[in-house]
Amino acid sequence: MTTVRHDAMDLVRAHPGVYAPQDDSRFLCDAMAVAAAPLDARVLDLCTGTGVLGIQAALLGAREVLAYDINPRAVACVADNARRVGVEVDARLGTLTDAVAERPFDLVVSNPPYVPSPTRPEGVGIHRAWDAGDDGRVVLDPLCDAVGDLLTPDGTMLIVHSEFSGVPETLRRLTAAGAVADVAAANAPAVVVAEDRPFDEQRATARALDRAGLAVALDAWPDPAAWPDLLRRARALSADLRTATEIDGAAARAAAAIESVAG
Ligand SMILES: C[S@@+](CC[C@H](N)C(=O)[O-])C[C@H]1O[C@@H](n2cnc3c(N)ncnc32)[C@H](O)[C@@H]1O
Repeated sequence: MTTVRHDAMDLVRAHPGVYAPQDDSRFLCDAMAVAAAPLDARVLDLCTGTGVLGIQAALLGAREVLAYDINPRAVACVADNARRVGVEVDARLGTLTDAVAERPFDLVVSNPPYVPSPTRPEGVGIHRAWDAGDDGRVVLDPLCDAVGDLLTPDGTMLIVHSEFSGVPETLRRLTAAGAVADVAAANAPAVVVAEDRPFDEQRATARALDRAGLAVALDAWPDPAAWPDLLRRARALSADLRTATEIDGAAARAAAAIESVAG
């Protein structure tokens, strides 16, 4: 795991009218450090806001960082933050189309607007940080569809969004566009109830998760009265689950598994 001595979340400031980094920004900063260390990478931060993600990538050793936003205040804010933090981020006014013209990238990070809104978002302003059309996917869909255009052949794209904006649709579109897609991290408290299996593998997994502090694991379905306490314990664990997953090398591991079964 890469250690960040200075964390962009603590270093950036939001100008008036610019989205101040929230839990979703923090989530992606953490995932970047764990799942896709951008050392020496050419990085795109699409929907950059304060530039927190691009600046985090630069702090983690990115070779070059391009950052795009439709909000001119955001572009000025990124330049200001990057200067103060002492890293280089090329902040530009623009959208996915402009970013595709600058391809390829080793790493794409994006915290796009993903909150469903009654009408298609128009204009420029802070509402564009969250308004994302009736299904919450007005930016997400074209971004997923463009994964093959944006990335180098072994590049990585990390996107954060709510479970209410369609995780299966994101995975379906990324896969259709030629990517190996997975949920890298989910900020969800978990109670894992193991079932009987011939080799007791579910119990072994559940106990490993419990030992690592990533889930509350049980060997059998609990008494109904036990649930309030179980949920309280699970909620107390949820922060750890953020950095629990490993996707680095997933494609190679999948290929090796298929080869060994086929061979
Ligand atoms: C949720 S904020 C994320 C800001 C920052 N990346 C973070 O994680 O804190 C989304 C940003 O996307 C920008 N945005 C919205 N639609 C966009 C689009 N089509 N292309 C580029 N940026 C867009 C908004 O102006 C806003 O700054």
